[in-house]
Amino acid sequence: MLTSMPSPNDAQADLIAYLDFHVEAGADAVLDEQPHDRFGEPDTRAPTLRAPRRQAAAPRPVAQPNSLVPPPGSPPPVAPARTFGRAASAQPDEAAIDARARAREAKSLDELEKILADFDACPLRFTAKNLVFADGNPDARVMFLGEAPGADEDRIGKPFMGRSGQLLDKMMAAIGLDRTSAYIGNIVPWRPPGNRNPTPQEVAVCRPFVERQIELVDPEVIVCLGAPATQTLTGTKDGILRTRGRLFSYKLPTREAKLLATLHPAFLLRQPVQKRLAWRDFRALRALLDGKA
Ligand code: URA
Repeated sequence: MLTSMPSPNDAQADLIAYLDFHVEAGADAVLDEQPHDRFGEPDTRAPTLRAPRRQAAAPRPVAQPNSLVPPPGSPPPVAPARTFGRAASAQPDEAAIDARARAREAKSLDELEKILADFDACPLRFTAKNLVFADGNPDARVMFLGEAPGADEDRIGKPFMGRSGQLLDKMMAAIGLDRTSAYIGNIVPWRPPGNRNPTPQEVAVCRPFVERQIELVDPEVIVCLGAPATQTLTGTKDGILRTRGRLFSYKLPTREAKLLATLHPAFLLRQPVQKRLAWRDFRALRALLDGKA
């Protein structure tokens, strides 16, 4: 009886299907050549409180599809040393303390962006292609804050570039705003792999930077797009359908800014029927900027 051996083309097709499966499931970043048993690893956290300053970023891992399949007869893989920068293995609260100290050093938005580009205590930077710092006018009276960049933003290096961004542009245009009259950022400036939500630890580490960014922009009105931005900046635990339309006060060094919570454009793309609520919020924003509220 004749049995057919799988051809190299079959093996390649299987491998591509296997990779496609992972990308579909959201695992679209290769961190290392071998799987890690994180639970079995010894605790190698950084022993000092402050992460090393201005340490050169670890080289970004590069996908090597051919090395996914070990040659026949090779010994079982040994977990290699961690590949992240040393500071990224610090405890999140140590990293947040370090972030706060570094963010405070920034005297301008350019300096803050450079400090963030050097900051390696947030693991997200190792899977992201680009730092997504901001877009728009730093002198604007209004600052919009989203959650975290997606794939388009990561590729381009600017916030709100994809479908959510196009909707945000339309919503701003409806009340006479655009990217020359508004400043746009995110509470987390690196894309979480596979577009997952940033973890509370990642948000906590990035938070001092966004707080400093707000101080340096010094807007009259901050518009939080969605629950993560609203909860991070106001401390509320309420969901966005409760907080949207609510006006909070946000403490800046010398005065209070107004903070308006509203729905995230990505949510509106999924639930267009809710656009009427966002429209209400944007009209309230217009009235605030016109001094009529
Ligand atoms: N969603 C966000 O919250 N931010 C972006 O920059 C893009 C999509």
